[in-house]
Amino acid sequence: MNHSSASDREEAQALRAQLQEHNYRYYVLDDPSVPDSEYDRLFQRLLALEQAHPDLITQDSPTQRVGAAPLAAFKQVQHRVPMLSLDNVFNAAELLAFEKRIHDRLKSEVPVDFVCEPKLDGLAVSLLYRDGLFVQGATRGDGETGEDITQNLRTLSTVPLRLMGEGFPSELEVRGEVYMPKAGLAELNQRQTSAGDKTFANPRNAAAGSLRQLDPRITAKRPLELYCYGIGHVAGGTLPARHSAILAALGKWGFRVNPEIRSAANAAECQRYYDALLARRDALAYDIDGVVYKVDELALQQRLGFVSRAPRWAIAHKFPAQEEITRLLDVEFQVGRTGAVTPVARLEPVYVGGVTVSNATLHNMDEVARLDIHVGDTVVVLRAGDVIPRIVRVLPERRPPYAPVVMLPAACPVCGSAITREEGEAVARCSGGLFCPAQTKEAIKHFSARRAMDIDGLGDKIVDQLVDTGLVASVADLYSLASASLAALERMGEKSADKLVAAIAKSRNTTFQRFLFALGIREVGEATAQTLARHYETLDALLRADEASLLEVPDIGPVSARNIVQFFAQPHNREVLDRLLAAEIHWPAPVKADVSALPLSDQTLVLTGSLSQLSRDEAGDHLRALGAKVSGSVSKNTTAVYAGEKAGSKLARAESLGIPVYTEDELMSLLREHGRL
Ligand code: IVH
Repeated sequence: MNHSSASDREEAQALRAQLQEHNYRYYVLDDPSVPDSEYDRLFQRLLALEQAHPDLITQDSPTQRVGAAPLAAFKQVQHRVPMLSLDNVFNAAELLAFEKRIHDRLKSEVPVDFVCEPKLDGLAVSLLYRDGLFVQGATRGDGETGEDITQNLRTLSTVPLRLMGEGFPSELEVRGEVYMPKAGLAELNQRQTSAGDKTFANPRNAAAGSLRQLDPRITAKRPLELYCYGIGHVAGGTLPARHSAILAALGKWGFRVNPEIRSAANAAECQRYYDALLARRDALAYDIDGVVYKVDELALQQRLGFVSRAPRWAIAHKFPAQEEITRLLDVEFQVGRTGAVTPVARLEPVYVGGVTVSNATLHNMDEVARLDIHVGDTVVVLRAGDVIPRIVRVLPERRPPYAPVVMLPAACPVCGSAITREEGEAVARCSGGLFCPAQTKEAIKHFSARRAMDIDGLGDKIVDQLVDTGLVASVADLYSLASASLAALERMGEKSADKLVAAIAKSRNTTFQRFLFALGIREVGEATAQTLARHYETLDALLRADEASLLEVPDIGPVSARNIVQFFAQPHNREVLDRLLAAEIHWPAPVKADVSALPLSDQTLVLTGSLSQLSRDEAGDHLRALGAKVSGSVSKNTTAVYAGEKAGSKLARAESLGIPVYTEDELMSLLREHGRL
C-alpha cells in the first residue's frame, strides 16, 4: 500500500471540508453554491486520493455515504432496500472499462445486455403500493432514510394513486425521478420573479424545492412530472427477470416510463445511444445530465452486487457540463444599432457546453443589479446548446476585497454623447443617434445584411473602415462610393473594390419589404416589414400613415406604430430616405393580389433546426409567398412549427405549448402541393 504524506492528508482534509459544505447547501438548503461540474471534480479528486492511499479514508468522507441528513420537519421513512447512487464515467474509455469490469467479474463469456436510459435532472423518489394502492412516497434522503412526502407526491398527476391492470405484487416499491420540464421551469421562474420570490438555479433545485414543501398546495401548483426507472422492495408476488421487462410491466400498471429508453448489446451500442441522445439534448422537453446504463438481467445484477455507494451493474455516463465557473475580468459597454448600450462581460476563457467562452452578454443594468456582479467576481456561466452564453449567478463568497461594482458610464464610450435611460426602461441608450459612429456602423451592417439589401462583400471590417475614414456617414453614402476610394482601404484590392461597387449597385433592385426592414426602424423586423409592405403597398402611402391608421393594421402594436411614425418624422431620416430614392433604389410595383386569398394567409409558421434540401431563408421566402407569416419565435399564436435536424428550444417550446410540429419532408410536400417546388 502506498502510504500517504502529510500534504496528501491535508489535501484530503480540505477536500472533505469543501465537499461537506457543498453537500449541505445542495441537499439540505436546496441552494448550491457551485455547479455540479466543480463538485464532481472535487469528488473525483478525493476518490483518487483515497484509492491511492486507502489510509486516508475516514468515516465522515463524503465518498462513504450518499447524501446529507434530511430536514427535521418531515416524518422519516426507512428505506427497506437502500436507495443507492451511481458511479460516473465521463468518456468512451471509462465506459469500456466499466464493461470490462463486468465481464471480468462474471468470469464468463456470456453476452451482457444493457438498458440505456436518459439520466433526468430531478429528484429520486420511492413510491410504495400496497395491494395496488399508493400508500407512501419518500425522497431518497441519505439513501437509508428519506422524508415522507406522500401528500406532496399525491398532487402529481403522473403518480398513479391506484395501479392499473393486474399481476402486480401485493407490496411494490417503485422508484423514479420527479423533474420539472424546461418550459415549466421557465414559467415558474417568471412567476417567481414577478412575485418578487427567488428563482431556481436549475431543474433539480426546482423539483426538490417544490417537493419538499410542508404545504402540499404549493407542490400542487408546480409543474412536476415523474418517470419511473426501477423498483425497490417487493413482496407477495414476482416480477419479470429482466429490467427491460420490469419497465414494460410498470408501463402497463400506469407508470410513466421514459420513451427514450433503449436496449444495447454492448458498450459500443451504449456509446452510440449516448451520442445520439447528446445530439438531441436541447430538443428534449426536460433537462438530462447524461445517460444511465444498466445490466438488463436481474440474475447478473445480483451476481455483480454493490460497492459502498453504488451498484456494479449500472453506471451514469455524464454529458459535458453546461455550467462552469470562471472569473469576470472586466465589463465593457457596447453600442448597438439603436443606441442601446449593452454591458458585456469579459471572462477568463472557460470551456463550457463544448466551446471556449470568453464573453457573455449581461443584457442591461437591471441584469447587472440582479446578479449583483462585481469586477473580479467568480461567476457561473451557462451555455446550453447553441444558446448565447450567459452568467447565471455569482459566488459572492469568492469575491476579492475591494472588487469594484459595475456602473453605467455617463457618456457613450464611442462618441462621448450622454447616455440616457428612460424611466421604466431597462435599456440605456447613447443619445448620439447617427452622430455616434457605433450606431452608424451597426445601421450600415443591418442595411446591407443578406435579409435586408443583401450587399455581397460588405463585411463588418469594411464597414468599420468606411465609417472610421469618413467615407461613409450614412447608408445613402454607399451608393456614391467610387471604386478608387474603396481600393485605398486596407486589405482591399482594385478587383474586390470593383466587385463591391457592383454589389452595391445590384442591391438597388430590391423589394419594398426588404427596403423597409433595411431601414432599421426599431421594432420593425422582417415580419412587420412584410405586413407594412403588403398593407400600404407604396412608400408614399406608408409615409402618410399616422399612429392611428398604423394601429388598424393587423399585428402592428402601439410600440411599433410609435416607432414607425417617429422614425419617418425625423428630418435626418427623411433626408437619407430621399437620397436613397435619388440613388435609384427601386422595387417592383405591388401586385394587386388579395393576400387573404393566398393559401397560407391565416398561418403563422416557425422554421427551426437545419433543413437538408433548402435553406431556412429559402423555405421562409416560399412560405411568405404563399401568404404565411414566418416568425422567429414560438408563441401561442404560432400555427405550426417545421423542425429540421438538431432543432432545439423552439421545438421544445412548441411541444410544451401543444403546437403541431412537422418534419422537413412534410414541409417539402406542402411547398410542392402549392407549386413552389
Ligand atoms: S438508477 C441503483 N436511473 O441519478 C441505481 N437513476 O446518481 C439507482 N437518475 O438518485 C438510480 N435518472 O436521482 C437511475 N434512469 C435513471 C435515472 C437516475 C436519473 C438519478 C437518480 C439517482 C441519481 C444517481
